[in-house]
Amino acid sequence: MQFANRIKQLKPYLFVGISRTIAAKRAQGIDVISFGIGDPDIPTPPHILEALKAGAGKPANHRYPESEGLPEFRKAVTDWYQHRFGVSLDPATQAINLIGAKEGIGHVALCFLDPGDLALVPDPAYPVYGVGTMFAGGDVYPLPLNEENGFLPDLDSIPEDVARKAKVLWINYPNNPTGATATPAFFKKVVAFAKAYEVAILHDACYTEVTYDGYKGVSFLQTPGALDVGMEFHSLSKTYNMTGWRMGAAVGNADMVNALMRVKSNLDSGAPQAIQEMAIEALATPEAWIKQNNAVYQRRRDKVIKALRGIGLAPNEPKAGLYIWVRVPRGYTSASFAQLLLDQRDIVVTPGSGYGEHGEGFVRLSLTIADERLEIGLKRLEGWTIPPPPRTQR
Ligand SMILES: Cc1ncc(COP(=O)(O)O)c(C=O)c1O
Repeated sequence: MQFANRIKQLKPYLFVGISRTIAAKRAQGIDVISFGIGDPDIPTPPHILEALKAGAGKPANHRYPESEGLPEFRKAVTDWYQHRFGVSLDPATQAINLIGAKEGIGHVALCFLDPGDLALVPDPAYPVYGVGTMFAGGDVYPLPLNEENGFLPDLDSIPEDVARKAKVLWINYPNNPTGATATPAFFKKVVAFAKAYEVAILHDACYTEVTYDGYKGVSFLQTPGALDVGMEFHSLSKTYNMTGWRMGAAVGNADMVNALMRVKSNLDSGAPQAIQEMAIEALATPEAWIKQNNAVYQRRRDKVIKALRGIGLAPNEPKAGLYIWVRVPRGYTSASFAQLLLDQRDIVVTPGSGYGEHGEGFVRLSLTIADERLEIGLKRLEGWTIPPPPRTQR
């Protein structure tokens, strides 16, 4: 049997390795506390689950869905965009359903990239942008996200020939893993870049609703001209604690949305309709519920930051997203510091290097950990002195 090169090139998905490490420790009887994956621990709220129960009983929902999603779902998404961001979209042509944002993010490269084409991809980044590029036969040109630049890519530093060759630019704000947020001025620059070089903009906006300290997430589509050049990926996973239900949407430029719909209609038959009905209910969730859900993460954020400062680290304090991104102590690498935490404190964090070369020197801690587990984890850091790094490192 001979497998395709793309399978040989494919590294195991970041969290597969981390899950194995946790399982191995737990098999030894060690109670590992994981600040690894960003998967909300809080259950899906009852009003959304009720919609699933009602939807499950409808025979129409037992049949194939449409790939693009129920018209009612698409309308719920565009109504939400209007209400939330003041962006007017046509539900028939500018919104489609995704089986979780990850599915659309993975497939969209097939709409824009032929073998040898170039995708501009931030580094560090959610790994699926690069993997989707590779699946389409494209090449990644990494755009470093540096702390000095507020973890925004420096579009001016992209060489002219690279910008001319590029077909797509990925951006993601609020950002995973750095926790950075984008400014309207940055989005304006992105639109100008897209127009100057005929580059399609793919904005992953999964965390716009998970925000702290009164910050309000922004949509790229609010930027003048954005609808000429871009589309945005949304997820219900994080905002409504729905990772298990796999529900997302792609919205924006009608030609781009249509291209993704054509790819999807050849690969999947849409998300289960009863789950789309959950999503319709979710999108109508009162603001107050979202605020109290975010307040849980904000409390955890503050505790994690305090504990990290207590051991001499200087974490970034994110205004949005589910992650704390923190530089490792001098002399350690992302991997060696993550290993130290596992060996000495039985704590799992994600090495920043797993998100790209420029993630080296950082680790990421997720806030999606039940409060009592979080307290145990943070207690393990209290009074801990980070040992000097072994001489062989760096
Ligand atoms: C930046 C980013 N985009 C997309 C996703 C996936 O979202 P979904 O659960 O809708 O597939 C994640 C999940 O962690 C993410 O961090």
